[in-house]
Parts: sequence; C-alpha cells; structure tokens
Amino acid sequence: MAPMSLRTVILAAGQGARLRSSTPKVLHALAGRPILSYVIDAANEVSTEPPIVVVNGAHVDVREFVEASGGIPVIQQESRGTGDAVRSVPEELRVGDALVVLSGDTPLVTGETVRSIIDCHAAAGHAATVATFRLRGRNSYGRVERNAEDGTVLGIREARDRGADEDDEEHEYNAGLYCFDPHLPFPALEKLTPDNAQGEYYLSDVIGLLVSHGVGTFVLDDAEELAGINDQKDFATVERCMRQRIADRLMDSGVHLADPATTYCDSTVEIAAGTTLQPGCVIRGRTTIGSRCEIGPYAQLRDMTVGNDCTIGSSTLESSQIGSGVTIGQYCRVRPGCTIDDGAYLGTAAEVKNAHIGMRSFISHFSCVLDAEVGCDVNVGAGTVTCNFDGTSKHRTIMGDGAFIGSDSILVAPLVIGKHAYVGAGSVITHDVPDDALAVERNQQRNVEGWSRRRRDHLSIDDQGATPTPLEPTS
Ligand code: UD1
Ligand code: CA
Repeated sequence: MAPMSLRTVILAAGQGARLRSSTPKVLHALAGRPILSYVIDAANEVSTEPPIVVVNGAHVDVREFVEASGGIPVIQQESRGTGDAVRSVPEELRVGDALVVLSGDTPLVTGETVRSIIDCHAAAGHAATVATFRLRGRNSYGRVERNAEDGTVLGIREARDRGADEDDEEHEYNAGLYCFDPHLPFPALEKLTPDNAQGEYYLSDVIGLLVSHGVGTFVLDDAEELAGINDQKDFATVERCMRQRIADRLMDSGVHLADPATTYCDSTVEIAAGTTLQPGCVIRGRTTIGSRCEIGPYAQLRDMTVGNDCTIGSSTLESSQIGSGVTIGQYCRVRPGCTIDDGAYLGTAAEVKNAHIGMRSFISHFSCVLDAEVGCDVNVGAGTVTCNFDGTSKHRTIMGDGAFIGSDSILVAPLVIGKHAYVGAGSVITHDVPDDALAVERNQQRNVEGWSRRRRDHLSIDDQGATPTPLEPTS
C-alpha cells in the first residue's frame, strides 16, 4: 500500500563540473527541455505536494526555473555533496509519510518507477529503500556492498573511493533514487563526515548508517532508466534513449517515421496520426503538425503550427503558422512571424518573413517576400523581392486579392499593389498600383538586326576571342 502523503526532494545543486560547461548541468536542453524538467515531471506524477528542489546558491537561473515549474527551491550554499544537499531541506518541509530523493541529473526516470520504489518501501516496512541496478564494467556509480553470508546491505562505496579494487565483473550499483521514513535520514545526515576521496558529505553513506533500522533495495531491471548525466558522453547516451522514447510515442500514435534513427523530435512536439516524416527531419520546440502531411526528407521545423494535408520539402521553417493543404517546396526558408493560409504554395528556394500569405497564393521560386501582406489568389512571380528596408526602418508591402506580380519584380516598400492589379515582369515598383491597373517599369526592348551574324563574322577574322565591335546597327 502506498503511503498517504509523500515529499519528493530533487538534488540539483551540484556543479556539474564533468560536463565542462558554464551552464548549470540540470538546465541543459535534452530533446528541447531542461534536464531537470523531466525529473520534476516524474516527481509530480507520484506526489500531489510540489517537489522540493535543492539548488546551488549561485545558480539563480535554476532557482527561477524551479519556481516557474511549480517546485519549491531550497538553497544549498555550497556543493558539499549529496548528503549536505538533503540536509539543506528545512525542518518545516520534512513532513509526510515518506520522503523520496531523486537526482536532478537522471531525466529518464519515470513516475511509474518512482511509484514502484515507494510501494516496495511501504510493503517491506523498511526504514530506507534504495533503487539499484546491475551493471558490468567500470563506471562512476556507487557500488552496493552486501554481507557475503546473508546478502544484507552493508553500505555503498563510491567509485572514487573504490580505486584499484575495480574489476570488469557485474556488480550492483546505486541508482540515486531513495525512499526514506521522513525523519530518519536527518539525524544520520548529521553524522556524515567528508572523509572520502572527494571530501564531500555523501548521501549514499547514510544507507550504511541506517542499516540497523532496516535497509532494503529495489532492483531495477532496466539500468538505462536511471542513467545519470555526468559527462558529455553520458549526455549523448541519455539523449539517444530519450529520442527513441519520443519516436516510440509518435509511432504508437500513428505517425510514420520512415527512419526513426535519423528523425529528431523534441519531447514538446505533437504530430497527428497519418503524417509521414521522411529521413533526416529535425522537429523542435512547440511544434504541432496535423494529419496526412508529408514532411522532408531533411526538413527542419521549430515552434511551428502546421495544419492537415501539407507537403514540406527539405526546408527550414520557424515560429510561424501554416494552414491546411499548403505546399512548401525545396530549400525554402520560412522565418518567424508568418501565417500561410490554406492551399498556399511556396516554390523552390522561396523566403518569407513576418508575412501573411493568403489562401491559394503562389510565392514562386527564388522569391523573397519579407514584411508583407499578401491577399488570396495572388501570384508572386519567380525572383520577386519585397525591398522592406530603407536603411533605417522596415516597411510593409501589401498585395491585394488576385494581384499578379510578374517575375523578377522589385517591390520597394512601403507599397500597396491593388486588387487584381498586374505588375509587368522585371519592373522596379516604387509607387502604389491602383486596383485593376497594370504597372510596367523597364527599359524598352531594342532589336538590333543582324548583330549576332556580324559578331560571328568578326570572330572568324580574329579567333583569339577579341570582343566584337561595334554593337550599334550598321547599314
Ligand atoms: C551519485 C551517488 C552514487 C550513485 C549516482 C547515481 C553520491 C555521493 N553518489 O553519484 O552513489 O551511483 O549518484 O546517479 O550520492 N548534488 C547536489 N549537491 C551537491 C552535489 C550533488 O545537489 O553538493 C546533486 C547533483 O546536482 C546531481 C545529484 O546530486 O543532480 C547527484 O550528484 P552527482 O555529483 O552527479 O553524483 P554522482 O557522482 O553521479
Ligand atoms: Ca550523477
């Protein structure tokens, strides 16, 4: 039977020195979210009380993150070890029927596993229960030492203190997840000494001190779930597991991943059933994608909202909204602030930014439509550019419904092209164009009769490649 009420304490005040990063370890992004957020989620799954998170006094951003996540930050002034971290929990918070301690650097832990250790603890009536796993080979985990005769736990020996007695055999290790009778660990924590290779107060030493009260273990089948992120190699290993979990979730919900191994989706991504991600897609942040879309190969989306039945090629899209039935061709760039309505189309290598593209409008290949309001059924010809910047400020270009912009036009903003107006190809448009009008701005074409023939003749006299002259017509 599970305890009536429980407190969770997450240890997150370490320096994370082995990661060699100036960012606090628990704030590093893992599949789009801080490492710590996953542990907070697992704690919230088992307890209705907000989790207590021990944070380093110098890590203001960690404290702010904990507050924003609904946790209770508790300051550990200096990183003097995991035992000292738990000791930082103030008297008034040491309440409840059980105290669960988690490491802030084990983001693969699930609420289900935390629940299992609590149930095991309650059922066995132990004073302390520690989760363990079996592992072969050298590692940085604390090793569980047992009495050779009866197998009872004697204590935990840290890697740095084991030194030369290390072998390649399989052993039992501390997973860093504990369940205590709430008042028990605190007197024992006061007895800790930093008499070890790291000069720290080890929480793992408390297990040895509580043996006479009754210590149990909860052996995990899956060592992977409590893998800690200590160095960059651990980080990559954990990230791989997390991405596999996300891929499994998407596939279970009916998303087709043509190659899960090369598809990277953040944990915050939502995709509806029936959509296909071709190999090499990277989908990040708060992106939602509707059903029956065909994405990639090699598309990158961040913070995007995409409707149903869209086709997106090898393009990069960010912080924008796309309706349904939209086609985004190859090598396009959708920069932040765009709304692209149903049935619209972006051709190869089109770029849009801070623009509204109305229903069924075409932004053809190599166009650059920045800071624009494009109505419905507009045709923006290939190579069209909205000149949005005058050197000081940005200006908008407005194109009315049904407007037709000929290829290679330069639209100098601020500018209004009226409804159903035409712009002749290759025009530089600097003044507004009224509804239904035609605007043409270009040099008149001039045909020079016989010019090419004379050029050839000239070259046949001087085949060294001299420039043929004159270019003017001759009689
Ligand atoms: C710890 C355990 C080890 C266990 C492993 C499981 C100790 C001494 N060792 O080792 O037995 O096998 O976890 O992953 O407990 N922290 C603080 N304050 C501190 C130091 C650490 O809050 O002063 C936090 C860290 O931010 C981290 C967690 O405690 O989230 C664990 O600390 P870490 O230094 O990573 O311990 P390990 O060497 O992994
Ligand atoms: Ca660790």
